[in-house]
Amino acid sequence: MARGLTASLRGVALGVAELPGVRLLARPVYRHLFARDVLPGNAYGGVFASVEAARAGAPASLPTSYDQPQSGELYADRLERVQIVDYPVLFWLSRLFAGDARKLFDLGGNVGTSYFGFRHHLPYPDDLRWLVHDVPAVVAAGRALAEREDGAGKLGFTDSPQDADGCDVLLCSGVLQYLDYSLPQLLQPLRAPPRHVLVNVTPLHPERSFVTLQRVTRRRVGIANCPYRVTALGAFIEEFAAAGYRVVDHWSTTERHMRIPFEPACSVDRYHGFCFRRD
Ligand SMILES: C[S@@+](CC[C@H](N)C(=O)[O-])C[C@H]1O[C@@H](n2cnc3c(N)ncnc32)[C@H](O)[C@@H]1O
Repeated sequence: MARGLTASLRGVALGVAELPGVRLLARPVYRHLFARDVLPGNAYGGVFASVEAARAGAPASLPTSYDQPQSGELYADRLERVQIVDYPVLFWLSRLFAGDARKLFDLGGNVGTSYFGFRHHLPYPDDLRWLVHDVPAVVAAGRALAEREDGAGKLGFTDSPQDADGCDVLLCSGVLQYLDYSLPQLLQPLRAPPRHVLVNVTPLHPERSFVTLQRVTRRRVGIANCPYRVTALGAFIEEFAAAGYRVVDHWSTTERHMRIPFEPACSVDRYHGFCFRRD
């Protein structure tokens, strides 16, 4: 309740700050607050043409990568609880596991959050192999967690995204926005690219491709300002088509959205998910 009220008041304050007469003064104030790391929550700042430009334009107050000691602790709640946004992925995984899919590559899978969270609702095949790739600090935390908590021994970790080669399913939930490369760039050189790609919780804009900065927080304290890539919806689908993938399913949710203060044309009012297949 209190958090909802704070968010509403913040929305009103930002609305006033963006009014034509006020924005000239308010914009540098916002930039200053973003740089001083005093804004609450996952704040966004600036619009850049590339990941490199965003990194160069990031304030020096925080690192610009997710590869931080705290990153493996950010989603502890998801180890036990499925989020509403996960259900389309649960649906598609249940169908793929009921078929012959046995090797899953979880790009940006953190410490195995989806592996642990989904197992309460999804029967895993006996011979399932669930391989997570994430940044080095998270992979190290994930290996330690799996040793303690994965009695079934199905979960593994790798430092190389190229280990997606030969897997049946590639899962990318909430991660594509943080990568220096696009997913088709990873997939195209693989000898045996995954037949199925499940994308979830991905910010796509109706027309524009750009990069902003996202302040990643732990317990409301900033740990990084990460370059955050937003792709135009049409270009996103075309890149997959060029890599040989067709859209089997596409969903979107307004539960996730992104507002970049003083950049109204770059707001994203819904996040997207896809099931792609390579025939
Ligand atoms: C928002 S979390 C999503 C976690 C999980 N997939 C989920 O859906 O709950 C983003 C994840 O991407 C990872 N990540 C960020 N940059 C990455 C990179 N360059 N390569 C691989 N993983 C990365 C982060 O460490 C984090 O685990």
